[in-house]
Amino acid sequence: MSVNFDDLGNAYVGGAWQSTARDFPVENPATGETIARVADLDRAQIDAAIGTAAAALPAWSARSAHERAAVLKRWAAALLAGQEDGARLMTAEQGKPLAEARAEVAFAASFFEWFAEEAKRAYGEVIPSPFPSKRYSTLRQPAGVAAAITPWNFPIAMLARKAAAALAAGCTMVAKPAAETPLCALWLARLADEAQVPAGVFNVVTTSDAPAAGAAFCESGVVRVLSFTGSTAVGKLLFRQSAATVKRLALELGGNAPLLVFDDADLDVAVAGTLAAKFRNAGQTCVSANRVYVQAGIHAAYVERLVEAVRRLRVGDGRDDGVTIGPLITPKAVAKVERLVRDALARGARALIGGAPHPRGACFFEPTVLDDVRAGSALLAEEIFGPVVPVVRFETEAEAVAQANAVDVGLAAYAFTRDLSRAVRLSESLQAGIVAINEGLPSVAVAPFGGIKESGLGREGGRQGLDEYMDTKFVCLGVG
Ligand code: SIN
Repeated sequence: MSVNFDDLGNAYVGGAWQSTARDFPVENPATGETIARVADLDRAQIDAAIGTAAAALPAWSARSAHERAAVLKRWAAALLAGQEDGARLMTAEQGKPLAEARAEVAFAASFFEWFAEEAKRAYGEVIPSPFPSKRYSTLRQPAGVAAAITPWNFPIAMLARKAAAALAAGCTMVAKPAAETPLCALWLARLADEAQVPAGVFNVVTTSDAPAAGAAFCESGVVRVLSFTGSTAVGKLLFRQSAATVKRLALELGGNAPLLVFDDADLDVAVAGTLAAKFRNAGQTCVSANRVYVQAGIHAAYVERLVEAVRRLRVGDGRDDGVTIGPLITPKAVAKVERLVRDALARGARALIGGAPHPRGACFFEPTVLDDVRAGSALLAEEIFGPVVPVVRFETEAEAVAQANAVDVGLAAYAFTRDLSRAVRLSESLQAGIVAINEGLPSVAVAPFGGIKESGLGREGGRQGLDEYMDTKFVCLGVG
């Protein structure tokens, strides 16, 4: 099946497709081929889109939660009906294997389904009053226009996670997708149109000028919530830029997830969990296992089994049958991974498999396992965003937890153990917003996703996800 990109070249503002004099290319990272050109909005056009979202706000926020839910459910159904088209588009634009792209489309639909229901449960409360003459209650109301800046690694699901919560809450949205993957966002907009999301309620501004979009969102007094998924460095910049308008920020920033394997782990579960936590999307996720700490007694067996499993991974164009590892997003991403691996090897690590760019093309890197990675290696300090497992041996639980926590970020952490008491201790002691025990794939619409420390602010998904887009108003009623 081929996907037609031709009608996905325009931005989507006010329920209409907007072209511009300038455009920018979108490339397939597996082949380097330009697959489309997309409208390149400037600051004034982005400001105008914010105005469009503001104009649509009163009518959308006035709809009942049940009416908004019906719209979101239609959007979810459109995603599921178009799953194969969306997946093929995503693989062509972003590179991930088709099976993962199909799963991502279904994951995206699950956010619309979840928040359609959560919209109906945006309860306020009645507060018992200490005074006979006063009654106290709270209302939960939409915060206003929300802006979203979304990443290229999950180009449909991350936008869905934000849009579903915002629209369920009664907010309208202007979204700026990553310049590497605007087509997926425009495809989602096309489905919004089909699902009869009212004009102006969901808008997609495509631009190659990310700083202009960031400044437009941060400086606008109309935008009351800014939700960003991306690097910690850019998150900090947006945080600073938003100070003047004191807007609500939801920041899903970088992680450097530790993965701990204890002597008492089930080896099969630990290896399968490591593969899921590390090699999904070729290691390009914020929750990817970045540092693998293995207890001395299981170390030899674990690395042997892991290397066997990694040897079976198949690198290639995500559109080809059987491919499990697609390209990285750009040649620059490959250069970064290569730098990190070289540094680790120079400091004494041993490559058990892989360790170099893959001959398949400019964006490919070999699935890699490095053992005995030394403290001080950049590989343990920086987010890798590539298919590389750095293994470090440890002796005691206390030592492993101390190393796992010795970073400024805290998004996800993984541990493999069959000791129930240890599992409870780890779920409490690991400093991360998400702790997965004996599991490598924790992300799900029904649970909160987000980090602590410099991994960000706020939560997406779960019942908490709605809070980012709602204000709590206290009502004090004098009853004479
Ligand atoms: C990410 O934000 O990179 C991870 C997305 C997910 O696992 O939900």
